Formats: sequence, C-alpha cells, structure tokens
Amino acid sequence: METKYLCVFLTILVTLIFVVNSEESVKPLVKVVKGKKLCTKGWECKVWSVYCCNQTISDYFQAYQFENLFSKRNSPVAHAVGFWDYHSFITAAAEYQHLGFGTTGPKHTGMKEVAAFLGHVGSKTSCGYGVATGGPLAWGLCYNKEMSPSKLYCDDYYKYTFPCTPGVSYHGRGALPIYWNYNYGETGQALKVNLLDHPEYIEQNATLAFQAAIWRWMTPAKKHQPSAHDVFVGKWKPTKNDTLSKRVPGFGATMNILYGDQVCGQGDSELMSNIVSHYLYYLDLMGVGREEAGPHDVLTCAEQKPFHPTSDSSTSSSSSSS
Ligand SMILES: *[C@@H]1O[C@H](CO)[C@@H](O)[C@H](O)[C@H]1NC(C)=O
Ligand SMILES: *[C@@H]1O[C@H](CO)[C@@H](O)[C@H](O)[C@H]1NC(C)=O
Ligand SMILES: *[C@@H]1O[C@H](CO)[C@@H](O)[C@H](O)[C@H]1NC(C)=O
Repeated sequence: METKYLCVFLTILVTLIFVVNSEESVKPLVKVVKGKKLCTKGWECKVWSVYCCNQTISDYFQAYQFENLFSKRNSPVAHAVGFWDYHSFITAAAEYQHLGFGTTGPKHTGMKEVAAFLGHVGSKTSCGYGVATGGPLAWGLCYNKEMSPSKLYCDDYYKYTFPCTPGVSYHGRGALPIYWNYNYGETGQALKVNLLDHPEYIEQNATLAFQAAIWRWMTPAKKHQPSAHDVFVGKWKPTKNDTLSKRVPGFGATMNILYGDQVCGQGDSELMSNIVSHYLYYLDLMGVGREEAGPHDVLTCAEQKPFHPTSDSSTSSSSSSS
C-alpha cells in the first residue's frame, strides 16, 4: 500500500517538475519559407521571423536582474515610485523581438544590447548623484517625467504636420524622454496612439513608455541613416566617410545616433561618461562583464563626428531630471 502511494506521489512530483521546467523555456515553433527558417516563440515573439528562433529576452534577463539594475527606483525619495517594472519592459520588448531587439546574434549579443539600451535609459532617468546611497549608478528609472518644465516645447514650425494642442505641454516624459510636439507626434503615429493630444499617456503607462523608447532605439531618426540597434549589433557597415569621421559600430555610435553633437565629438565629457558608466555597470550586473564592452573608440564617441551635425532638438536636452 505505502509504496503504491509513494509511487503515485513521485509520479505527480516528476510531472510537476517537468511542467514547470517546460514552461520556463518556451520552445519555438518552426517553419521553413524559401529555404529560410522562421519561428514564433510564445507571446514574447509572436510574429514569424528568423529572430524568434533564438533566445528571447526573458530567457536571459529575468525579473531579479531588472531589480538589481534599478534597485533604488522605488525608494521613498525617487520620483516615479511604483511606476516602472520588469513586466512592462518585457511586454514592450515583445513588440520588437521579431525585429531583432535583444534577439540578434548569439545570446551574448542580445544581453549586451539589452544592457546598452537600458544603459541609455538608466542615465536619462537617473536621480543618482555623487554621494547617493548605493552609488550614483543605482538610481536609474528614478524619473518618468521632467519635474519642473520651463516651457511647453511647442515648435510652431510643425504647425501643419504636428500642431500643438492648446493647453498641452510637450515636456520630457518616458524612458528615453520625449520632448517637443513633433517628437510626440512622430512617436504617436508609429505606435498608433494619440500622443499629440495626450502626451501624458507616456507618464501614465510604463509599457507605452518603454515601447516608445524601444521604437526610438530600433528606428532611424533620418532617412539613409542606421538606427541605434543597427550600429550596435553590427547590421550597419560604415562607409569610407564614416571611417574618416571615426564612426565605428558599437556603443559609442548609439550615442551618436541618439544625441549627435550634444554628446559626441567632445572628448571624454561628463555627459558622455555618465551614459557609458551606466552601460558598463549593467554589463557587470547582468553577468556579461564590462571587459566585453570593447576598446575606448568602440565604447565611446569621444572622437566621432556626429551622423547629423547641429542636430535638431529631436532627442533633446540633457535629462528629465531638472
Ligand atoms: C541566432 O543565434 C545563433 C546562435 O547563437 C546566431 O549564430 C544567429 O546569428 C542568430 N540569428 C539571428 C537571426 O541573429
Ligand atoms: C498601456 O500601453 C500598452 C501598449 O501601448 C497598451 O497595450 C495598454 O492597453 C495600455 N494600458 C492602459 C491601462 O491604457
Ligand atoms: C562625405 O563627407 C563629406 C564632408 O563631410 C560630404 O560633403 C559628402 O557628401 C559625404 N559623402 C557621402 C557619400 O556621404
């Protein structure tokens, strides 16, 4: 009798373990179209693509790691307590993983891209300062909006394409903060959300905020230019002009794409070093290690000429912190 019960018990236990394990790592569905292997992989990678055959972000970046990276974001002195969470990030990333966000190349490359993207996010939303507890790099995702905007960020030049809605303020909001009516307009068009009338959606919905930031990361700012994603994962091949301007694929070039001459081509400025420090800190915490970041001229844009000189105010001013 007793051994029989034990057997039943063990069978149930083994079944449970099997079920739990198989849930942990979703197997991709595979089909071959014109000799190309395409996959889907659960809700996280649901559009048929080559990228969905690879490990998805939640396979190598889990909730506890997100908590480590942004450990101070819910401390009482933070400015967006309870807003940002892991689930919002993964939900937003699910819209872009079939396009290669975090899923390009070997797992290692995916982890580096997530660290790089979040490095930008962390430095833009940090309220860390020199003597902050836990160190200045532990305070990413402290903000979700500019605290004391001094203007409405309405540019009348775009009054026909992206007219400002009366009474609405287009100050900085989000994970890679959006400023100005035309940037809210353009982002809203891409995400099919009416951000021109309702820019405040970005500070009310962390999934939308992350989605807008990942869209910016994945999308060229100008025609015939690469995206930050392209220059980071090596999809972009520099021309002779690029090489002469010291623009090489890597993290440095992502800063060049997103901020141009506001950050790049000015030696080791404090602004640039702050973004780089966040990236390196996250590489360490994710277990990749900062030694994987590459040499100075790949990691920084200290000597790079901007992709687009005298950039418009598109990816705008320093941070959402002031
Ligand atoms: C998928 O992963 C493999 C093995 O790590 C890698 O060689 C390949 O480039 C990746 N596929 C894509 C489309 O990036
Ligand atoms: C937040 O934004 C996401 C992504 O755009 C959307 O799917 C979701 O419905 C939004 N949530 C709320 C409560 O509006
Ligand atoms: C190369 O750079 C020069 C000087 O900045 C510029 O005038 C020229 O148009 C560029 N050529 C291409 C193909 O981008």
